Amino acid sequence: MEIYSDKQQITCAIDGFKAKKLTVGMVPTMGALHEGHLQLVKKALAENDKVVVSIFVNPTQFDNKDDLLKYPRTLEQDVALLKTVSPNSIVVYAPTVEDMYGGNTVSQNFDFDGLEFEMEGRFRHGHFDGVGTIVKRFFDIVKPHRAYFGEKDFQQLAIIKKLVEKHDIPVQIVGCEIHRESNGLAMSSRNTRLSPEYKEAAPFIYKTLKAAKEKFGTKSATKVTEWVYEQFDKHDILELEYFLISDIDTLKPVKRKSKTKKYRAFIAVYANDIRLIDNIALN
Ligand code: PAF
Repeated sequence: MEIYSDKQQITCAIDGFKAKKLTVGMVPTMGALHEGHLQLVKKALAENDKVVVSIFVNPTQFDNKDDLLKYPRTLEQDVALLKTVSPNSIVVYAPTVEDMYGGNTVSQNFDFDGLEFEMEGRFRHGHFDGVGTIVKRFFDIVKPHRAYFGEKDFQQLAIIKKLVEKHDIPVQIVGCEIHRESNGLAMSSRNTRLSPEYKEAAPFIYKTLKAAKEKFGTKSATKVTEWVYEQFDKHDILELEYFLISDIDTLKPVKRKSKTKKYRAFIAVYANDIRLIDNIALN
């Protein structure tokens, strides 16, 4: 499997693919790969000749130093896992912080038409500027035909679509369904840091989302939201940071339901010091 950390080398490899008229898919990741990532990679492999998987823990999207320090870094294991999927069609791009930021580890400021101020934007200051900066840089280097992102980070997916639209980046953004453990917990690299007690408790998040979806059929968004807050108030160890029902296009919280609009429920929960997010389509 080809593995590059150097920008010149990956550019050269991509130029070679393009010269042979091969299509290039990209799966940007921060590593600690799990089955959810592999689903994105498999979809990308089905739709492209070559797939570049970037593995880079991007410092500018972390508003919490401790979270950045503790973020799992498992490059060897990640490469071994990718080899089991396809040793020949996957290219790993694992640059250093210096390669990507050249000694100036700061984000560019973006205007995502307000999408950046909702949900995660309220709680993780500067997060989406960091995501936008690194994803744009990756697209500039790799120039993929298609790029794949999971719906677990639904707001991120919406923001990347907006980034591409506003900056005229010639790449098709493909959103992929959330991949879950058998107990319903959305797959995340952060799950590896859950203690057994919190691992057992965490499926409560999806269970509550499913019940909220059911209730949304007959109750108002306010009533459903109150009900969810009550469930977490009663929970011994999980702490709810937010639960919101929002319009999927604007990501603004719904005030009054409309039959013509599509809604999704979004949640962020602390399992001790580990922040877990999830979401569910409601209609
Ligand atoms: O979703 C992630 O893992 C990251 O936010 C991304 C898109 C790789 C950018 O660092």
